[in-house]
Amino acid sequence: MPKTLNSKAIVEFAPALIAWQKTHGRHDLPWQNTRDPYKVWLSEIMLQQTQVVTVKDYFTRFLAKHPTVASLANASLDDVLALWSGLGYYSRARNMHRCAQDVVALHGGAFPKTAEVLQTLPGIGPSTAAAVASLCFSERVAILDGNVKRVLTRLLGFEADLAKSANEKALWQLATQVLPQDGKPDDLWTAMPHYTQGVMDLGATLCTTRKPNCLLCPVEKLCAAKKGGNPETFPVKTKALKRTSQSLWLLWATLSDGSVYLEQRPTPGVWAGLYCLPVFDSHDALIASVSPADVSLLQDGEVFKHVLTHKDLHIHPVRLQLVEKPKQAALKIKGNWVAANAWSGLGLPAPIRKLLSTV
Ligand code: ADE
Repeated sequence: MPKTLNSKAIVEFAPALIAWQKTHGRHDLPWQNTRDPYKVWLSEIMLQQTQVVTVKDYFTRFLAKHPTVASLANASLDDVLALWSGLGYYSRARNMHRCAQDVVALHGGAFPKTAEVLQTLPGIGPSTAAAVASLCFSERVAILDGNVKRVLTRLLGFEADLAKSANEKALWQLATQVLPQDGKPDDLWTAMPHYTQGVMDLGATLCTTRKPNCLLCPVEKLCAAKKGGNPETFPVKTKALKRTSQSLWLLWATLSDGSVYLEQRPTPGVWAGLYCLPVFDSHDALIASVSPADVSLLQDGEVFKHVLTHKDLHIHPVRLQLVEKPKQAALKIKGNWVAANAWSGLGLPAPIRKLLSTV
């Protein structure tokens, strides 16, 4: 923790940031220039773990299909997962669907206007709740996502380890202190959306993890880390992410008409709820699922790696090209033959979609 709070920063940060956001921030992202909480919420959920460039297209497509929260609430989960397909972290899509249903059932179809109540909805954590409440309703609440942690720890010279939740809580309190004050110079209604967008924009464009562009920064003069000459050492977070790796075998069974055999993945687990080639923990387990007469037809495909947040998956596709649907269940796995023109409309994990597209 800084020994003394940078009191100059507390007073001057928000006005400087807001002025910068108005002229140098981002203004033409598809979820901006609106205070519609449905659109802002949708974008914030998508942006939680996905880059802006990727989110843009998904956001536009999603909104075209479901222009209102009621439309999303009425959609089937399979439909929602299909629209989400390729974005990853599918629990976001499942929570989002439940959230839309709760907004309709519990809040009369209108999103709550405060971060406190927004947080009671599925998939909305404290930072996302604050983003929606401040961008749409100008509530004076602080967001604290990865970008913002970087900006504020640098500004304030906050050296405590963010792996400890007490330190993160302390940073959140400071984040609340640096929020705009009503009337200085804008009223809060105007100030809050510019502020929230501004702190995200600063983190994304100038106050970057490596090689921050301090020369162009609107708050360079207020920044404790810049003064100390070590902005890149912030934020301090010790807990290293422990990565694991896992091998999976995929049974890639097809018919000569192009149909492919897919199972719906169980919940919980990797790719829960999505449609997928049947997955096995070992080559032997895969072989055991195929009728003995067909085992000689199996062909090992090329192994590839797919990287998840905490895990590297080593995926071993094994092909089984049949002429037509076996009379009896030749595959001892629950699943369905899906026609060649139908599988691409299902919610599939991105690596599986890519694999199926290679033929
Ligand atoms: N990341 C999270 N929210 C964002 C937003 N509203 N604009 C740009 N990037 C973001």
